[in-house]
Amino acid sequence: MASLIGRTFRVGVLGSGAGSNFQAIAEACATGRLPAQVALVLSDVAGAGILERARQRNIPARFVPPGNSRAKLDEDAERAYVEALRTAEVDLVALAGFMRVLKGQFLRAFPGRIVNIHPSLLPSFPGLQAWKQALDYGVKVTGCTVHFVDAGVDAGAIIGQQTVAVLDHDTPESLHQRIHATEHELYPRCVAALARGQFYLQGRRVLERARGSAPDKSSAGKP
Ligand code: GRF
Repeated sequence: MASLIGRTFRVGVLGSGAGSNFQAIAEACATGRLPAQVALVLSDVAGAGILERARQRNIPARFVPPGNSRAKLDEDAERAYVEALRTAEVDLVALAGFMRVLKGQFLRAFPGRIVNIHPSLLPSFPGLQAWKQALDYGVKVTGCTVHFVDAGVDAGAIIGQQTVAVLDHDTPESLHQRIHATEHELYPRCVAALARGQFYLQGRRVLERARGSAPDKSSAGKP
């Protein structure tokens, strides 16, 4: 991985849906709160809102066919995603509502450099409709989590979390809406800290460097 000295930290975003988290990241880049640029947006859904939102911002955006698998990318597709991200020289891959599990080839291409946002306080409620799982379970507090992506489902080391109170009158929709709004604060903040090289890993723990110690700008998640 090339040294970042003298050049902007580059983020590749993958999404299957509306792309509101992508938008939050792109806006934070535009206002300078996040010292990075979104270099590329890829989607497995041809008409996904995320592609349209990216094009409106003049950010390169492409639909890359996922192949025939339902929950993952076919091997050829995975290769195409990796190649596109490598060509765009991304330093970090940020999943933002990307509805497919990444397998070994992809994970090995960007070790410690793939992150995801999940709408619950992991490790509680991994998987689909996490806000509904939280409501049905009866927890009083839920939230969202930004984490590194590993071979498990919503299982990688936790980078940041933000809480959301569950209210008595909540429906799945109202709770999801508040979690979503919270995601738009947390995700850009975590990506900014990664871009600044503020984090290091100690086992599963993602820790922040002491103030004044030299940031490691050449690796997002390495100790
Ligand atoms: C978010 O709720 C995120 O937590 C989940 O997928 C959703 C994506 O929403 N992984 P958007 O496309 O960013 O609006």
